[in-house]
Amino acid sequence: MKKLFFAAAFLCGILSASAQGNTTERLAPTPPMGWMTWNLYGVHINEQLIRDVADAMVREGFKDAGYQYVYIDDGWQGGRDNRNNIIPDPQKFPSGIKALADYVHSKGLKLGIYSDAAQLTCGGYTASLGFEKQDAKTFASWGIDYLKYDYCGAPEDAETAQTRYKAIADALRSSGRDIALGICEWGPRKPWLWASNVGGQLWRTTYDVRDKWKDLDDNGSKGILDIVTENKDLYPYAHKGAWNDMDMLVVGLYGAKGPSGDLNSHGCSNTEYETQMSMWCMMASPLAMTCDLTKLNAETKRILLNKEIIAINQDGLCKQAEPKVINEAYHVYLKPLEGNRYALAVMNISDKAMKITLSFPELGLKAKYGMRDVWMHKQVSSSARKWAGNVESHQTKVFVLTTK
Ligand code: GLA
Repeated sequence: MKKLFFAAAFLCGILSASAQGNTTERLAPTPPMGWMTWNLYGVHINEQLIRDVADAMVREGFKDAGYQYVYIDDGWQGGRDNRNNIIPDPQKFPSGIKALADYVHSKGLKLGIYSDAAQLTCGGYTASLGFEKQDAKTFASWGIDYLKYDYCGAPEDAETAQTRYKAIADALRSSGRDIALGICEWGPRKPWLWASNVGGQLWRTTYDVRDKWKDLDDNGSKGILDIVTENKDLYPYAHKGAWNDMDMLVVGLYGAKGPSGDLNSHGCSNTEYETQMSMWCMMASPLAMTCDLTKLNAETKRILLNKEIIAINQDGLCKQAEPKVINEAYHVYLKPLEGNRYALAVMNISDKAMKITLSFPELGLKAKYGMRDVWMHKQVSSSARKWAGNVESHQTKVFVLTTK
């Protein structure tokens, strides 16, 4: 009898663990894609801006390309009412968040919101510590689909971080609505080791991205190359429903004023923006655009709407690229894809154009491969064991390799 009881309890344990796993996977089966308010607008946001972005996402083809979320970042809050329910700033969101969520949903898109694991957010607004269950219920009643949960004002140790993130994840799970959780403690507590276990679907691995190639001033700001380098060894931790989040896409900002232009960040070239898109896709990072979608130039659209590079990001095998060659001049990465295919990226990090030669067997690739250049949109070889070509300074060439 006792044995039967233990067997049943064991089975229930396995079943509930796998049910939890499935929920987590279902909330972000591939890296979430969308547009986020923070990098360009900071806390200067309002409901009209969100509506305009939702309209632009549909009109300009972003929704069709797979971008799904409009994420409201910090600065939306207006405190709590006399029942301690969190409320939006009535000046910025006079119609309320529920009406906004209804509008975003009517466009076939999803709405994200932001809070923090302390009393106040990074911007000094009302946050959720001690109100996790109540706030999760409020978010669910508004129709929120995603919560970014920051860590400003919270204790430094990893145990407290895990406790606080688990509290909000559990609250979201019992809120009655599917709400994905983005963990944003920036990397110091190694969230890749625990974020998925406490109920997060993605976790920031670095401090905030800035609109620059790299931190030349050594002021601690993170450019595109800094973030790629910090993220490169974290590939074992990415899997279906669990993603290393490299922070937002600065593509198309061109040094615009706003949080990503701070700390001497004066913008990037289109080649560098293309590299950001390439590497965020290779590394299966969530893709959160931040540029003004109502005023796009042709290059920004070309980069953000390249369906071939997006397909690499969204690939169903859910692998993050592994670094294969890292030296002072260039990086080579390989991302296994469904159907025995690979994505191969060659990133020139030097200040000069360079001819680079790769031998596939040395990368662990045994067969002969057809090669398609996903930025040129053309087949460049039908049966290759090596590749040699010119790569511009800060450019990343990306190929899909297929066997017959
Ligand atoms: C932190 C986060 C940013 C942004 C701001 C908002 O710095 O890392 O992405 O959410 O807070 O205040």
